[in-house]
Amino acid sequence: MFGLVIFLNIAPTLGGGRARKASPYTAELVVRADQPKGKINRNIYGQFAEHLGRGIYDGIWVGENSPIPNTRGIRNDVIAALKKLNVPVLRWPGGCFADEYHWRDGIGPRDKRPQGINASWGGVAETNAFGTHEFMDLCEMIGADAYLSGNVGTGSPQEMMDWIAYITSDSNSELANLRRKNGREKPWKLPYFAIGNETWGCGGNMRPEYYADEFRRDATFIKDYSGNHIQKIASGSHDNEYKWTDILMAQAAGQMQGLSLHYYTVPTANWDKKGSATDFDESQWHATMIQAQRLDEFIQKHSAIMDNYDPGKRVGLIVDEWGTWYDTAPGRNMGTLYQQNTIRDAIVAGLNFNIFQQHADRVQMANIAQMVNVLQSMILTDKDKIVLTPTYYVFEMYKVHQGATVIPIELAAPEYKFGAASIPSLSATASRDSSGKLHVSIVNLDPNREAEVSTKLAGVAGKNISGRVLTAPAMNSMNTFESPQQIAPVAFTGFKMKGGNLMLSLPSKSVVVLEIE
Ligand code: AHR
Repeated sequence: MFGLVIFLNIAPTLGGGRARKASPYTAELVVRADQPKGKINRNIYGQFAEHLGRGIYDGIWVGENSPIPNTRGIRNDVIAALKKLNVPVLRWPGGCFADEYHWRDGIGPRDKRPQGINASWGGVAETNAFGTHEFMDLCEMIGADAYLSGNVGTGSPQEMMDWIAYITSDSNSELANLRRKNGREKPWKLPYFAIGNETWGCGGNMRPEYYADEFRRDATFIKDYSGNHIQKIASGSHDNEYKWTDILMAQAAGQMQGLSLHYYTVPTANWDKKGSATDFDESQWHATMIQAQRLDEFIQKHSAIMDNYDPGKRVGLIVDEWGTWYDTAPGRNMGTLYQQNTIRDAIVAGLNFNIFQQHADRVQMANIAQMVNVLQSMILTDKDKIVLTPTYYVFEMYKVHQGATVIPIELAAPEYKFGAASIPSLSATASRDSSGKLHVSIVNLDPNREAEVSTKLAGVAGKNISGRVLTAPAMNSMNTFESPQQIAPVAFTGFKMKGGNLMLSLPSKSVVVLEIE
């Protein structure tokens, strides 16, 4: 199926958030389908849901008696949307909240659960209505593996040990019987467990040497019961804090299967004034891309340190918090971290996925922050309405890469410059799935210029080609409750074969996923 590019919705216009008209640039791409590499762990398409703002309450949990259609208290519209993403793994209950969460508060009859305070996020009431059973129910409904963050900051090894026995043991023990009494006969599977979160910060302000010892002790008591097998994930570093990774690997690598890394894209790199999610100009667009791209260097350098201790790459780098972080939307409580989501966020998502897949030999999981109503979400909710964000659609388009084989690419693209700063204007990734289909995903970071990409396909016939594109008229185009379908993927027809090469015409600020056989 070949066709000419259709420039739907991309007429350049002037004004706030609008792109200026410019001529296309050219680039060259080689897809080495004849040189397949290792596997992409599907868990890099993971999600994160924390007790924060309206991430859980309203966003996921409305309760069984809500007029909003639900299944055992969980919103049907959110379940249906998430199912379409093939969410491989879901991290819960935090974030910072994890180190103040006591799992026993969230089991048993809901009307008897203690009312707590969410001290990490605004000191608001925590009803504990959404606890272990509700979370595991959600995971089962959307088909995701569970990834729990244990409480190191205010908890104990005993508490973590008991939580795991409660969830996974099939024995006739008091804890397993308590689970049965609370309505779940069979144990659940629990494949991933983190020992603390950001233990260098909100998880206890520990020094790496101290936490390494704490991790070693706690990991000893994270046991496998009844055929369950847990991968233990250590609370890792953030950004370019390499010392933490070095000390953790030197002192505790032997007991971990994963080491986490957190990195947020903050356009201004200034946490006090991060910038607006929706009201920005091209300088902020460009700065956002530069900040997002930094993750590549951070992963490379943390991985190089890990290589010193673990050349066989047994320990996975687990990027269990990533995404854009802007100023909280005006009129919203600061502690809710509620932000809108534009085509800029979609481009950042594509860029991040391309980086994760580039480092698929070390990056074994990534969890975007966060799934609903918090930071770079998939879904926004307002009472009975939901909006699927541009980021949602990138997850949906990229799911073809889950568990596929990495296909190396070579990309030569001009720089996208703004002021003194510059970044490659294109980013791409490729993989081959188990049925032999090749998928090539390309992100055009430039908000003004289309890209004409001459693509050489090595090792694939290229007889059947189809694709989808996500783009938008303005840099800050978004889906809203009033107009929820402004941005959604459409069929991509901007390709043709010429002289044995696949010629692509990519709209400005777009994400394209091609399927090639
Ligand atoms: O995702 C929001 C917060 O960011 C998390 O709670 C914390 O781990 C990180 O600092």
